[in-house]
Amino acid sequence: MKNIVVLTGAGISAESGIKTFRDDNGLWEGHDVMKVASPQGFQENPALVLDFYNKRRKQLLEVEPNAAHYALKDLEKKYNVSIITQNVDDLHERAGSSNVIHLHGELLKVRSSFDKDLVLDWKKDLNLGDFCEFNSQLRPHIVWFGEEVPLLETAALEVQQADILLIIGTSMQVYPAAGLKDFAPSHCQMYFIDPQPAIQESQNLRIIKENASTGVKKLVESLLQN
Ligand SMILES: NC(=O)c1ccc[n+]([C@@H]2O[C@H](COP(=O)([O-])OP(=O)(O)OC[C@H]3O[C@@H](n4cnc5c(N)ncnc54)[C@H](O)[C@@H]3O)[C@@H](O)[C@H]2O)c1
Repeated sequence: MKNIVVLTGAGISAESGIKTFRDDNGLWEGHDVMKVASPQGFQENPALVLDFYNKRRKQLLEVEPNAAHYALKDLEKKYNVSIITQNVDDLHERAGSSNVIHLHGELLKVRSSFDKDLVLDWKKDLNLGDFCEFNSQLRPHIVWFGEEVPLLETAALEVQQADILLIIGTSMQVYPAAGLKDFAPSHCQMYFIDPQPAIQESQNLRIIKENASTGVKKLVESLLQN
């Protein structure tokens, strides 16, 4: 079986009703991203940051995967598929994809501020005073701007094995995630699906200027026929 690696960004979840932030002038649901998605922001106003993620968590439980998430699951009929997502939602998992790497963490998990490896499943609100077993405040299990990306090497190793690379719904502005495509081997055929593509077509890279729900569905149908 050939290996397909898929890099997804906020755009794939847009049609499920979760807002991206680049489409909103650098605001994420009306907030300056540095105030709600950085260690400094958390230090300055932890209550605001917890409230922001509580709202995102609540919203996530009310939305559903869309046609693009489901189409990626179908690819597993014919290919080894790994999905590397910048998204913190769980819509790939809910659509049934088996191998999902969350580069930037997960909304439905929290972790200890004292021990980063102490991670708990969490579906309710997280409040000041919710402590881990070491009496340390729990925080969202999210990789904030300026923090290390622990799964970066795992993700780069996956991309190095790709025969086909799909990049879907990302502004390619957040590093190091945006640099992952450079690990693809020279024989790898790449496709980039986004209504406002941030990169140019080149020899091995085909641009599909479309929304994820239609663009991914069509591409998956043709990859399953080949
Ligand atoms: N769903 C989520 O988990 C979520 C949502 C917002 C932000 N974030 C976080 O913010 C960062 C955002 O970086 P990013 O590059 O992923 O997103 P981004 O917000 O920077 O860019 C979104 C991209 O999606 C494209 N897009 C918009 N509607 C689309 C559609 N219907 N189909 C396909 N593409 C569409 C836009 O043209 C843009 O290129 C990530 O690190 C992520 O962790 C996550």
